[in-house]
Amino acid sequence: MKKRKTWAEPYKIKMVEPVFMTTKAQRKKYIKEAGYNTFLLRSKDVYIDLLTDSGTSAMSDRQWAGLMMGDEAYAGSRNFYELEEAVRHYYGYKYLVPTHQGRAAEHIISQLMIKKGDYVPGNMYFTTTRLHQELAGGTFVDVIVDEAHDSESTFPFKGNIDLKKLKALIKKKGADKIPYVSIATTVNMAGGQPISMANLKAVRKLTKKHGIPIIHDMTRVAENAFMIQQKEKGYKKKTVAQIVKEICDLTDGATMSAKKDALVNIGGFLALNDPEIFDKARNMVVVYEGLHTYGGMAGRDMQALAIGIGESVSCDHIRARVGQVQYLGEKLLEAGIPIVKPIGTHGIFLDAKAFLPHLSQDEFPAQTLAAELYLDSGIRAMERGVVSAGRNKKTGKHNYPKLELVRLTIPRRVYTQAHMDVIVDSVASVYAKRNKIKGLKMVYEPDYLRFFQARFEKL
Ligand code: F0G
Repeated sequence: MKKRKTWAEPYKIKMVEPVFMTTKAQRKKYIKEAGYNTFLLRSKDVYIDLLTDSGTSAMSDRQWAGLMMGDEAYAGSRNFYELEEAVRHYYGYKYLVPTHQGRAAEHIISQLMIKKGDYVPGNMYFTTTRLHQELAGGTFVDVIVDEAHDSESTFPFKGNIDLKKLKALIKKKGADKIPYVSIATTVNMAGGQPISMANLKAVRKLTKKHGIPIIHDMTRVAENAFMIQQKEKGYKKKTVAQIVKEICDLTDGATMSAKKDALVNIGGFLALNDPEIFDKARNMVVVYEGLHTYGGMAGRDMQALAIGIGESVSCDHIRARVGQVQYLGEKLLEAGIPIVKPIGTHGIFLDAKAFLPHLSQDEFPAQTLAAELYLDSGIRAMERGVVSAGRNKKTGKHNYPKLELVRLTIPRRVYTQAHMDVIVDSVASVYAKRNKIKGLKMVYEPDYLRFFQARFEKL
């Protein structure tokens, strides 16, 4: 088959869902009522929803057909075995524990492997991942390369682990204090940045020497594999499916939020190679999620997921998925908008510090910018800055991340190129009036994952 040259969508649209535009006066009211937090808006009041790529994908006709094949038996559902087969075939992990979504798998693996006083190194934190590590008594240690914290650096593999940082941690704390290295493909908080295969191999070599396992957050593994295919020497001729398998083979187990890469609206799993940990996880899942052959998912959801996994690693799909994100990013760069470079895979990250340099981080520039974008055009984005970073557990002070970002996350197979153009226009119009934008103050702060429910007022 001749290789496709463009990223044009490898599908046509069979069913549509109308979206509606609001008036400026309505949006002013809605965002105020939402405490200037885009998580607290109603989706009916949103025009283009870029809050997240999580659970927002459009399923294929085959996946919808799969729903009709749901076997809703409490135990031993046929769909579980199909899912187990898909996980083994595409990812290569031996044992599967289904969960309702990613954080449930993070909870189980953290409770099983982390002891109080342990250190968990990782390639930048993710909100739920770090919280579960902390709740299990561990301390997360960021060992990502420095380039990842610099929005201007064009280093192609900003998801890489800095081996010097990892070695130093092992030396200082001892391998017995490190239950595992936590590796995400791609790194969400860094801007959807990939880890290279060469780096992953080096991490594998180092951890093997010290007997430290690698737990893989494989939420966006196909996107990472695509970037390896495009950018890493020696991978041009390999398929995305082959690269995905190679990544998984270098790790010992994985947590998956299937709501992203795997093209379903709900679902996740823990996948393992160690039979003893699997046994414990399978025992624990019945306490928190459901029986080990459904773990919080309906049979039909497991079927849609089994099909989605196969679609997610197809070269045509992933080229169009990442191609659309690259298209948006290039247009924003042409318009002179400060974004994280290089362009990542699941969204575009506006650099709010550069966008609103007159606001200090205590005035929540990214939170402010996300609210302004909604006000301008009804586009909903998400804060990924000081609010998401939460507070330091010991000092109680805000964590001040170097990256203060607004994420324009692109759902898979949902929006068109014309929507991308509308997004560019709106971001450019907010950029034109950036000097007049005032910051926010936080007036309500929840204890956990505060970004979801915190409320703000205009300064
Ligand atoms: N790991 C990564 C890298 C994620 O991006 C997410 C979720 C999770 C784990 C947790 O999975 O939501 O299924 O429990 N990210 C969503 C987002 C919420 O918008 O980026 P979950």
